Amino acid sequence: MSALLEVSGVSVSFDGFKAINNLSFQIGPAELRAVIGPNGAGKTTFMDIVTGKTRPDEGSVLWGEKSQNLLKMSEARIAQAGVGRKFQRPTVFEDQSVFDNLLMALKNERGPLEVLFYKRSRADDARVEALAEEIGLADQLHRTSGELSHGQKQWLEIGMLLAQEPRLLLVDEPAAGMTLAEREHTTDLLREAAKTRAVVVVEHDMEFVRRLGCKVTVLHEGSVLAEGSIDHVTQDPQVIEVYLGR
Ligand SMILES: Nc1ncnc2c1ncn2[C@@H]1O[C@H](COP(=O)(O)OP(=O)(O)OP(=O)(O)O)[C@@H](O)[C@H]1O
Ligand SMILES: [Mg+2]
Repeated sequence: MSALLEVSGVSVSFDGFKAINNLSFQIGPAELRAVIGPNGAGKTTFMDIVTGKTRPDEGSVLWGEKSQNLLKMSEARIAQAGVGRKFQRPTVFEDQSVFDNLLMALKNERGPLEVLFYKRSRADDARVEALAEEIGLADQLHRTSGELSHGQKQWLEIGMLLAQEPRLLLVDEPAAGMTLAEREHTTDLLREAAKTRAVVVVEHDMEFVRRLGCKVTVLHEGSVLAEGSIDHVTQDPQVIEVYLGR
């Protein structure tokens, strides 16, 4: 399987401090991957580099069948090329319904002229309903988003990202602040989403990562410390030392 995203030898320094240090990372087109590591390991900075928010000092980031160089593309073009990112705080429109939030996300796919002359179609309604089903909010479509629980807002935002059909979805600490039941639903949702696209999940909650049941990459001081199943990496002496030595 050839990689969808191929990060090679990437480094970035902030005021002389190497936040990412010769990092290499690959993910396939329909793969779920968890990224763990202690605070300051470089997990969020890694996502910032892939999305074009931070430019590395060295290395390459190649994308897709044509091995496009993401480092030469603007943030907007990277998003258009199919990289979606979920931030920690949900950014849903609180005074709009779940339905309208999802519908707006569908519209975002379109060019400015198309939006101007946009007419809601039956196909769009069906697509919104399918998305709501996928994120477990089918029975909440007509609720005002501000009334949703924290977990439901996170799912809505994931749904809004899925509406844009990214080929790679980057999700930073989705389980923070969620109840156990919400966390379980979130793992199901991400596993499902990763059947048709690549999904990278950064998370501190080890039980959550275990339930994802996927390959795990452990970052430490901006480099890959270990990679493999959750059992494999949690038994790695170097990983144990990093976590116990905190
Ligand atoms: N824009 C920036 N300017 C200066 N330093 C930064 C910047 N972004 C990140 N850093 C530093 O780079 C290092 C890596 O930070 P990063 O946020 O990527 O870690 P993380 O693995 O996401 O940690 P956490 O688990 O706490 O979210 C940290 O020491 C951080 O202070
Ligand atoms: Mg972070």
